[in-house]
Amino acid sequence: MSTWAQSSSGNFSMAPECFTTTSVPSMLTVKWCGRSHETRIGHSPLDVVAWHGNYAPVKYDLRTYCPVGSILFDHPVPSKFTVLTAPSGVPGSTNIDFVLFRERWLAMETTFRPPWYHKNIMREPMGNISGRYDAEPKGFVPGGMSLHNMMLPHGPDKNTFETASNADLKPEKPDNTMSFMFATRFPQHLAGFSARQAPLQDDYIDCREGPEKKFGPTAGEKQWCIGIRRETGK
Ligand SMILES: [Fe+2]
Repeated sequence: MSTWAQSSSGNFSMAPECFTTTSVPSMLTVKWCGRSHETRIGHSPLDVVAWHGNYAPVKYDLRTYCPVGSILFDHPVPSKFTVLTAPSGVPGSTNIDFVLFRERWLAMETTFRPPWYHKNIMREPMGNISGRYDAEPKGFVPGGMSLHNMMLPHGPDKNTFETASNADLKPEKPDNTMSFMFATRFPQHLAGFSARQAPLQDDYIDCREGPEKKFGPTAGEKQWCIGIRRETGK
């Protein structure tokens, strides 16, 4: 579905071949087994005579991606927003998915609409391209990235949770949002720059403080079940 509907193959453009005979000292970088290796060559690496098969660079305008979602209640898993996928031999797991969260209509009934609290077996590096990410309108700014590795709980900040819990569930359209996620079964490590030199959001953990318990065994209390909110006793 992702290849032929949401991210239609017709919207991928292949770069034209580019051949140059320029003889200039150049550096060639190759990533192998999680590490970058460099070597020096005496000519431009941009000396492609022709592409053969489908192993060629392409460009794709993310604004041509058509998201799909629930049209009654609850959330399918975020992988429904997959633009490209590299499947693995393990059922239920991919080597890597490239997932896009762009503007879209939300009209689910009886549903907590932001991404809800969860943990899973996939590793989820995310980035904000532009606008506001609906689970974390503060902190996760354009140009910023986050990383949640396997089985690390995460979800919306406290204010988002409280607002969405009491919102009037009329159709709405977050129209200023464009974030991406790589969902992969491989553990992700921080590069030295990311861990020590890049600007860090030191107060990230603060938005998780103070959530109230929302479970209650008594009829009439709100009960919560994953992404669906139910009000009992009414
Ligand atoms: Fe997640």
